[in-house]
Amino acid sequence: MSCLKNTAIYLGIVSSFVTASALSATNDKVAMGARLYNERCTYCHSTKEGVNKIGPTLNKVVGRHSGSVSNYSYSSSTRSLDLTWTDEVLARFISGPQAMIPCHQIATKTMVICPGGTKMTFSGFRQKANAEAVVEYLKAQ
Ligand code: HEC
Repeated sequence: MSCLKNTAIYLGIVSSFVTASALSATNDKVAMGARLYNERCTYCHSTKEGVNKIGPTLNKVVGRHSGSVSNYSYSSSTRSLDLTWTDEVLARFISGPQAMIPCHQIATKTMVICPGGTKMTFSGFRQKANAEAVVEYLKAQ
């Protein structure tokens, strides 16, 4: 009996430890995302409502429809994208913006031009964990 009781107490301690460490893992991700956001995104984006820089505001961007900031002048490709920036879609986008919204390569006699595509000139995160951390940070804004 006392053995059972001890097991129950032990399980209780383990489960509260797991919950606490899951929470702090999320906080760590947000902190990591904030650092990456400041390094890689703030030059072109603000998270303040109505503040556009080179790129549109990222205020409440998770769950937002693409190309929907009314006072921002999007490229025609982004304007006609018609998708929602869910966690997964956003992580994929910032892992390779040009791969997701490509231009249309045209070879002329003298050069290759590439009209269309996103006008966001960010090359993308190589590591999925970094893209996901930035998404966690943006969700917390
Ligand atoms: C060099 C400038 C630049 C950098 C750096 C940059 N962006 Fe952008 N971003 C843009 C521009 C410009 C657009 C508009 C694209 C278009 O209209 O084709 C854009 C568009 C976006 C969109 C689509 C918004 C919408 O309303 O549909 C998201 C999301 C986004 N950027 C997130 C990010 C994140 C997150 C980072 C950092 C990892 C980042 N961007 C880095 C310039 C930049």
